[in-house]
Amino acid sequence: MNFSSVMSNLFELKPEQNFQTQSIKVPGKLYISGEYAILEPGHPAILIAVDQYLNSQLSISLKPYHGCIQSDLPGMNDLNYRRNPHTNDIQINIEQQSAGSLKDWRYVLAAIEVVEALITEIGRPIQDYQLTFSSDLASQEGKKYGFGSSGAVTVATIRALIQFYGLQAISAETIFKLACIALTKLNTNGSFGDIAAITLGNWVYYQSFDRDWLRARLSTNPSTLDLLHVDWPYLKLETIQTIEDMTVLIGWTQSPASTDDLVGYLRQQMNDADTTSPYKTFLEDSQVSVESMHQAFKTKNITLIQEELANYRHLLLKLSKQFNLTIETPALSDLVNLSQAYQFEAKSSGAGGGDCGIAIGHKNQKSELLQEQWKATGIIPLDIKVAPLQV
Ligand code: PMV
Ligand code: MG
Repeated sequence: MNFSSVMSNLFELKPEQNFQTQSIKVPGKLYISGEYAILEPGHPAILIAVDQYLNSQLSISLKPYHGCIQSDLPGMNDLNYRRNPHTNDIQINIEQQSAGSLKDWRYVLAAIEVVEALITEIGRPIQDYQLTFSSDLASQEGKKYGFGSSGAVTVATIRALIQFYGLQAISAETIFKLACIALTKLNTNGSFGDIAAITLGNWVYYQSFDRDWLRARLSTNPSTLDLLHVDWPYLKLETIQTIEDMTVLIGWTQSPASTDDLVGYLRQQMNDADTTSPYKTFLEDSQVSVESMHQAFKTKNITLIQEELANYRHLLLKLSKQFNLTIETPALSDLVNLSQAYQFEAKSSGAGGGDCGIAIGHKNQKSELLQEQWKATGIIPLDIKVAPLQV
């Protein structure tokens, strides 16, 4: 396929938005089912995008070859950069920046680099930016809910830049791939389930791709357009039709957890040879459960969805026992027990260890009463809805 047909398969041209100020909002995400197993390529998960947004605003920098990145998030310092007019590389004078800001901004810088590689390939001149972020992914006190801010910041940067250069991705998969390229260059070790949820929006079925394959491809300095154009091994991204009569409740246990620490600990435990087989069983069982839940969505069978939610909870409980991990904290167990008393099924969401739990029930069940009960035990019901499809 030639360059222009690859281009027109991936992007529409939007000349009217070229170099104009762009405002982007990227939703948060929550795992419904499939967490941990999704780390293994070819395994599925179901996630939702939630209407807690990370906002970005991008305009052209008023000072040529200089730009600035800012955020209203507590503890984030402005980052001023210069651009080398000959190589087009972004340069940061480390002495002029406050400690930590380079680390804080690594996702944004990686995202800029990936989009600029694409824009250069397309043959357009690179500009400089004034890029600002604001977020409601954390509580008033700045505590993280666990909705995934690093993924959101990466996607917000990519979407803002793509639009700024007068392009519109035809499919969300293109934005997904660009974000995965940026994050892989940073050597992150996640499954990219968060990126799937926030680039598609709504309810998402995601089957994780072979991250080693991408890493190997990236080491050969490939063309970004080619990478966006080819199929990625095992990758599946599908929107799930929502079910009108289903209620999803989210409860926050008020204790933030570190996904990296939990996943790191699991990996460390797995290095023991005798753990291979329980992990394999977990992967097999989890695949069956997530596929069954996916089917249940297609047949709008809420009771089966609830059953599989409970099933996956038990798979996670077994996994935590086998590998000595705390996925379901006592507060999350309270959340589940109370939910069950009101005919909901519930489980921890994502890596667990704190953060949020999710409960699913039929619409006519007493969600207000359940949420009152949650409150009485110190679980905060979050007033959050599923975010619409992203375009
Ligand atoms: O804790 P969360 O919501 O960020 O989810 C982490 C899910 C894991 O499968 C444990 C890790 C991953 O990258 O998918
Ligand atoms: Mg989490």
